[in-house]
Amino acid sequence: MKGVILAGGLGTRMLPLTKITNKHLLPVYNQPMIYYPIQTLVRAGIDEIVLVTGGHYAGDFLNLLGNGKDFGLRFINYAYQEGEGGIADALRLARVFTGKDKIVVILGDNILEKDITEYVARFKDQEGAKILLKEVPDPERFGVAELDPAGRVVDIVEKPKKPKSNLAVIGVYMYDGQVYDIIQNLKPSARGELEITDVNTAYLRMGKLTADVIDGWWTDAGTYASLYRATRFVAEKVDPKLKDHWF
Ligand code: DAU
Repeated sequence: MKGVILAGGLGTRMLPLTKITNKHLLPVYNQPMIYYPIQTLVRAGIDEIVLVTGGHYAGDFLNLLGNGKDFGLRFINYAYQEGEGGIADALRLARVFTGKDKIVVILGDNILEKDITEYVARFKDQEGAKILLKEVPDPERFGVAELDPAGRVVDIVEKPKKPKSNLAVIGVYMYDGQVYDIIQNLKPSARGELEITDVNTAYLRMGKLTADVIDGWWTDAGTYASLYRATRFVAEKVDPKLKDHWF
């Protein structure tokens, strides 16, 4: 299985922090943000990685990561997304590297407490796609999954005004080789992006989508508030004593 990290977009939500650097290079406690998704993939045994980025500071990823030696990798493949056409638009660029192989995709601003090895292992035995879910207090900020009583996904809505559940679709997605054909048939959403939720919905309609609810904390780090939360989560993981030191 190959890994794809999506770190494109222009980070306009995070100005002025992103005026002179890429959002995914901002610090989250003691490491640049992009380290966390790389470590999540590597811990799951994935050592062939494509990083998709964009914007003015794309070259800084190469300076920081090189061939990925610090993560135990032999090489990292890089792709450049022009503009910010959406998460599925960025994923499209990984096709030349991953072909028909199964892939694990992770968003460059997603940070997880625990590793994803067990979910990746389960996906090896299925076709189609797997999404991962987490209960959150603010589901309206995310893609939200509705489950039936048997725990099967029946609907996914991107940033619903009235969420049908508190289960956010986190930014870790597993796909078979069909994903690129699905993306080719997508139409841009009202906000002008190729939406990853539309990719997942296409698999759902084919009856080929599974979902697992993850253990441990998860957060994005793509807003001022969530970057602050991510920093606290990571700090307390690195040094549990800090829990008593905040005021
Ligand atoms: O964090 C999980 C959420 O991520 C999901 O619940 C949503 O369903 C999904 O749409 C996404 O929502 P966001 O609105 O938070 O996505 P955002 O536009 O902030 O992009 C998240 C990451 O995806 C970003 O850090 C880099 C990558 N990306 C995004 C865009 C728009 C790209 O690589 N290229 C892009 O054009």
